[in-house]
Amino acid sequence: MCGIVSVLTFEKEIIECLISSLERLEYRGYDSAGIAYIDENSKIERIRRVGKVAHLRQAVEKLNTNSHIGIGHTRWATHGKAIEKNAHPHIAGGVAIVHNGIIENFEQIKRELLNEGEVFESDSDSEVIAKLISYHIKTGLSFTEAMKTSMPRLKGTYAIAAIYEKQPNVLIGTKKGSPMAVGLSSDGRSIFIASDSVALSSLAGQITYLEDGDFVICLKEEEITYKILDSSFSEVNRSLILNNIAQNTVTKSGFADFMLKEIFEEPNTALETFNNFGSPIDLSQYKNISLIACGTSYYAGVLAKYWIEDLVGIHTDVEIASEFRYRNPVLSKSTLYIFISQSGETIDTLNALRNVKAQGLDTLSIVNVESSSIDREAKYKIKTSAGPEIGVASTKSFIAQALSLLLLFVDKNKIDIKEITHAMNEVISQYEKIKNVANKIKNSKSLLYIGRGTSYPIALEGALKAKELSYISAEGYPSGEIKHGPMALVDESIYSIILAPQDKYFEKTISNAQEILARNGRVLFITNEGVQLNFGQASYLYVPKIDPTAQPFVLTTAIHLLAYYIAKQKGLNVDQPRNLAKSVTVE
Ligand code: AGP
Repeated sequence: MCGIVSVLTFEKEIIECLISSLERLEYRGYDSAGIAYIDENSKIERIRRVGKVAHLRQAVEKLNTNSHIGIGHTRWATHGKAIEKNAHPHIAGGVAIVHNGIIENFEQIKRELLNEGEVFESDSDSEVIAKLISYHIKTGLSFTEAMKTSMPRLKGTYAIAAIYEKQPNVLIGTKKGSPMAVGLSSDGRSIFIASDSVALSSLAGQITYLEDGDFVICLKEEEITYKILDSSFSEVNRSLILNNIAQNTVTKSGFADFMLKEIFEEPNTALETFNNFGSPIDLSQYKNISLIACGTSYYAGVLAKYWIEDLVGIHTDVEIASEFRYRNPVLSKSTLYIFISQSGETIDTLNALRNVKAQGLDTLSIVNVESSSIDREAKYKIKTSAGPEIGVASTKSFIAQALSLLLLFVDKNKIDIKEITHAMNEVISQYEKIKNVANKIKNSKSLLYIGRGTSYPIALEGALKAKELSYISAEGYPSGEIKHGPMALVDESIYSIILAPQDKYFEKTISNAQEILARNGRVLFITNEGVQLNFGQASYLYVPKIDPTAQPFVLTTAIHLLAYYIAKQKGLNVDQPRNLAKSVTVE
């Protein structure tokens, strides 16, 4: 998703401040970037580049300015191609804006403004925001009033930072649906508005998060001040919290990629999650559980369903948030609705939460980013201890989510965390073997991940990782389903990854694999150490055998490393896969 940054400061170095903040937002996924600032002559200057922030940094390296106010943006294209004219900031009549979100009624507003003689330069939805504000200023409204008048016209989602060259001491931010953080430097000489706290990690000592409809108006006079107005334009206080995203947590710490670092952190994430876990709720009042999420977080729910029903005997549903929020589900007071999200900003999961809350029903969030929307809006909350996850692919956060769900329902003393973390580290120590196996798989036309029981959600997760990182078509299937259609896919061009721990499904899964081998399918077995399999043309990865309940954690680290090395050996950008974003804040 798009990322926005902006600064109003007494300091001189705003260009570096904007560029380095954009670099910290790169993990969100994007395809172009730009900055704008008000120069010493109260004129807006703008530089935009398609591609990486590095191109933008190169374009501004000789730039010297004493400006003290600027905005910046990384764009993940929604309306209009990833070309320079569609990159932000957008400018109109001395107003410059950056926007994260989607304006759903932008064509209607654009038509109205075209009829008023406005000329547009881009194909983007966001440009109408600058044009609308500028239009209202031309009718005689002040910058602040023009902002207040323009926002109610916008349907959809937005987080907007705006500057106006005739008021170079004023920076305004507002949001609806998309997240927005306001940061204050420890010395009080700078104020920042950004999409998230990671962008502000080395700039702001304290941050606060705006609520939907809020405006923040930042002023630079003898000192930097700001006020927050709610949607009825009454001044409100939003609590300031310490910005605990320390700068060093967003570096690769010597790893080739964030994703590799974050996979290597999985054992420690499991340990941290175990040690920090405390249940926020008495579950005895609920007869049902409903787990709602997207993507990898949804698979954590699919895995938890097996545990909850098998170990605790509570009926559990797992829902894809984008379906759940629109299909008119039958809700009940005896159900606890659990929303799982790494970013805490996934719009489908957030709106599903809001729908359930609106019915007065109990909600619990399992979120990794503190003070994110889902974290703040759920009635009960579990904050996972994965730390900042920069790679677009969810890795360690999946471990944290799944273990948090297990700990929510099963006593800690029944979980041998040392056995789990030791086994995960064992898998990591086999990274060379996994790299070699990945080399055999990387040119496959498509991949089929299969597993039974709790290995099935890990098959789903493995297929998603293969898709999103190596762009190979991949499917996850219950082993028992292969004969009901997918077997038709099997020939020597397809590689099947068989998740076959030595559990109660082992024999059945092996016979499913033999059916694939009998049709010249290529097979990788991921099975336990000590298992004797001898299918000549197959490949094998052996992982430690641990308590069957916890075995999925060990398999997960293996399939994450496998996906990483397949993509790496294809020369792909594993931290920022094409077309994807870390936090999907648009529908
Ligand atoms: C997983 O690797 C993907 N990045 C994606 O499926 C992700 O899990 C999904 O978008 C949900 O994100 P969330 O956990 O932040 O809500």
